[in-house]
Amino acid sequence: MTAMSRILILSAVASLASTPAFAANIAAGQQLYSMHCAACHGPRGEGVVPEAPKFRMGERLEQPDMVLMQSVKSGKKTMPPFFGILQDAQILDVLAFVRTLR
Ligand code: HEC
Repeated sequence: MTAMSRILILSAVASLASTPAFAANIAAGQQLYSMHCAACHGPRGEGVVPEAPKFRMGERLEQPDMVLMQSVKSGKKTMPPFFGILQDAQILDVLAFVRTLR
């Protein structure tokens, strides 16, 4: 193997390693949010129904995505469970959008 081809292989491996396994789609998340979440949480995350966290104030967003996703899947108080309605990747897209409301 020549030195040049070794460098090419190394850089190909490096670029693969830097590609994230999951890249959230914020635009898709925004659409899903307005369809499924905005009625209670508000289009700008202002919180409409009683007890809905105000995402624009960062409420609850100190928790990691995996914890928030679990709440969204199982439901919490008046929030209905989204298990079977949204897929994990879709919930992660919505959460990525929600984090832009702060
Ligand atoms: C019917 C109203 C309603 C809808 C629809 C709704 N939520 Fe909620 N959501 C709530 C309420 C109320 C709470 C507060 C629950 C609590 O304090 O236990 C909440 C809490 C949350 C939390 C914080 C959970 C935690 O562990 O602290 C997240 C994140 C969230 N909602 C995201 C969403 C997303 C994403 C959607 C749409 C896919 C959505 N919600 C749809 C009412 C709603």
